[in-house]
Amino acid sequence: MKRSKINTIIKECEDWVASMGFQLPPWAHWSLEQWQTNLDNGINADEIFNNMLGWDVTDFNKENYDYFGLTLFTIRNGSLQFDKKSYAEKIMIVSEGQLNPMHFHWYKMEDIINRGGGKFIIEIYGSGPDGELSQDTISVKIDGIRRTYKAGSCIVLEPGESICIEQGLYHRFFAEGGTVLAGEVSMVNDDKTDNCFLEPLARYADIEEDEPPYRLLCGDYRKFLRYTN
Ligand SMILES: [Fe+2]
Repeated sequence: MKRSKINTIIKECEDWVASMGFQLPPWAHWSLEQWQTNLDNGINADEIFNNMLGWDVTDFNKENYDYFGLTLFTIRNGSLQFDKKSYAEKIMIVSEGQLNPMHFHWYKMEDIINRGGGKFIIEIYGSGPDGELSQDTISVKIDGIRRTYKAGSCIVLEPGESICIEQGLYHRFFAEGGTVLAGEVSMVNDDKTDNCFLEPLARYADIEEDEPPYRLLCGDYRKFLRYTN
């Protein structure tokens, strides 16, 4: 993806998230220069850097963000390697017409919540022993109430509703009737190792640096900032 496209997306998302009444932490809006000044003044942002908090704009390297892409912001996250925090929280901005890859997680169990906007539609399948889609019936919890669905069901979550995605459950999602502010509350999130995509693809986009970053992405900190830890 071009950095200029990522910059435009983040500017739009900042405005839209604020319009939904959801406030991100102050550092979500720091420029590269503000980050560097704050680091030079001695702040410790280990959790942010080590656990890849912050902005995450991806087209899964398919160069078609508007049809196959997602913008996320990880607000908090632990690490089995670096700290005691065993949980994570993020938001996802799901635009209409945008799809994302069918995947499951080996380790992470996650609740995905429609925090507002349009309808959030999530398609689910079980996974077979070789990573294939299973045609078995699925049992999942919607807002704490266990329900049974056929394989491939598209579950509609209205604002306020949520689904619990257990390990090994294939899922992908999209929005209808408007952009959705989706929340995620989960176990520790490691997008480098814990995604099993049905069709192999890249989780993060390669970035063409055609202009300076407006905001740093979760994979940008080491690339753009000078810090010792
Ligand atoms: Fe997921």
